[in-house]
Amino acid sequence: MRHFFRASTSTLALLLGCFLVGTQPSFAQTNLSGYWDARTPNPDGTFRDTYFEIQQSGETLSGTLIRRPNGIPITGTFKEGAIHFVTVPPTPPPPPAGATARPAQRPITFDGTYEDGKLLLQTQGRNGVMKSVAEKVTKEATLPPAPLPLPELKDLPDNGLARTPPMGWNSWNKFAGRVDDAAVRGMADAMVSSGMSKAGYVYINIDDTWELGRDANGNITTNKKFPDMKALADYVHSKGLKIGIYSSPGPKTCAGYEGSFGHEVQDAKTFAAWGIDYLKYDLCSGLDIYKDDAPTLQAIYQKMGQALQETNRPIIYSLCEYGRASVWTGWGTKSGGNLWRTTGDISDRWDSMEKIGFSQIKIAEYAKPGHWNDPDMLEIGNGGMTADEYRTHMSLWSLLAAPLIAGNDLRTMTDETKSILMNSETIAVDQDPEYKPVVSVSSENKVEVLMRPLHDGSVIVGLFNRNDAPTDAQFARSILPANLTGKKTKVRDLWKHEDVKLEGDTFKATVPSHGVVLLKISSR
Ligand code: GLA
Repeated sequence: MRHFFRASTSTLALLLGCFLVGTQPSFAQTNLSGYWDARTPNPDGTFRDTYFEIQQSGETLSGTLIRRPNGIPITGTFKEGAIHFVTVPPTPPPPPAGATARPAQRPITFDGTYEDGKLLLQTQGRNGVMKSVAEKVTKEATLPPAPLPLPELKDLPDNGLARTPPMGWNSWNKFAGRVDDAAVRGMADAMVSSGMSKAGYVYINIDDTWELGRDANGNITTNKKFPDMKALADYVHSKGLKIGIYSSPGPKTCAGYEGSFGHEVQDAKTFAAWGIDYLKYDLCSGLDIYKDDAPTLQAIYQKMGQALQETNRPIIYSLCEYGRASVWTGWGTKSGGNLWRTTGDISDRWDSMEKIGFSQIKIAEYAKPGHWNDPDMLEIGNGGMTADEYRTHMSLWSLLAAPLIAGNDLRTMTDETKSILMNSETIAVDQDPEYKPVVSVSSENKVEVLMRPLHDGSVIVGLFNRNDAPTDAQFARSILPANLTGKKTKVRDLWKHEDVKLEGDTFKATVPSHGVVLLKISSR
């Protein structure tokens, strides 16, 4: 009996110990060292994976938030059950002489607890607190898949599309991850009712975050925001419009959704079967897998370009590779591209639009019918710039013969936004049937004078003021082509929609801050 009692006391202690260990975080024993996959749910039922390598020594945490090409170091503590760590973004390299320094990345703070082998984490995102659950994974699970064989390089035939720069709407700039079936239908309705379609805008393009995963046969599936892509395409077509979609050559899109890696032919067939007319193909995680050089990028894009052509459906092919490996010099066309991004992402701010827009003039000579430089989509009407700045945006993109892909909410446009996006006189510049590149006439004191000849012998001259105050600008008649240097010329202001006088040998105007005077000069 004594013996039993003794035994049962120790059993009880053991049981109690186990109970305590089981229900309470056992601070002393737990070591978080290892690889973790933190899954953050998106509102559409999908998840975003973030991988960490954590090293724990005592109560101190260090390691890496795994990002390619370089991870971001983390530092923090695991104390009395509470996890706290922050990313330590690298110091940006010193800017080249004369350039402004790049802002340092914002550190991200993670707080949470350890429960049942999982890390329950919280972080402050742009749209509020984001919660994620991290589970331990193997190192291999955090690595990108091995590259797949790429096709031998060849020049794909011209698909005959986009003889003038594509015009349409895309969901990303306004909606990002919040785009859904209803928004796309609403945009198709508004494209017609607002007059945008009459003005020439045709494509309704769904950007990232429509994807879910793959079914048992490997077919790409849509998440709950897009219950029936074929029905949606039919709806858009019923309005006399065309529809575009988005994917990536990598396993994940830039927003962390399913990409076309290893399913290029299958996805092209799916897109064609849905009735898709335009594909934006965004490099994203393709860069984690493949080499970042012109032949490799060409092969990646050729793979999908060929798959699209083999569907025999006319599908505009929009390369999104942020201007890497001088895509405009040839490989964009060879891989079947109708347009290619020449820069990083635009944002709805003067400095972003200005920097992108004016940097494009030097590569304008590489565009040609069917194969356009794409300095990213329009921000007109999104609220971050003044009307003068948006007129500069529209004027520059039109002079560059850039794709005119609106990025605002077409259902709620102000009259001013409409007057900018639907200015038929600037659209006619963008859509000129015989492409001749814009050239810089002069660039002094932050005043840019640009000129582009049109097919009918007229020229467009843009006087742009990049200063923060109104500035006088001018050009001499002698810069004009021979047919326009005589006195018998007609000068039209394409924003005021009226004829103006070019008297004497110099044209002078006061241009508003960040604004433009856009003139069409033709012979009378
Ligand atoms: C990249 C592209 C953007 C947009 C997002 C979507 O950043 O450059 O235009 O498509 O991905 O995730």
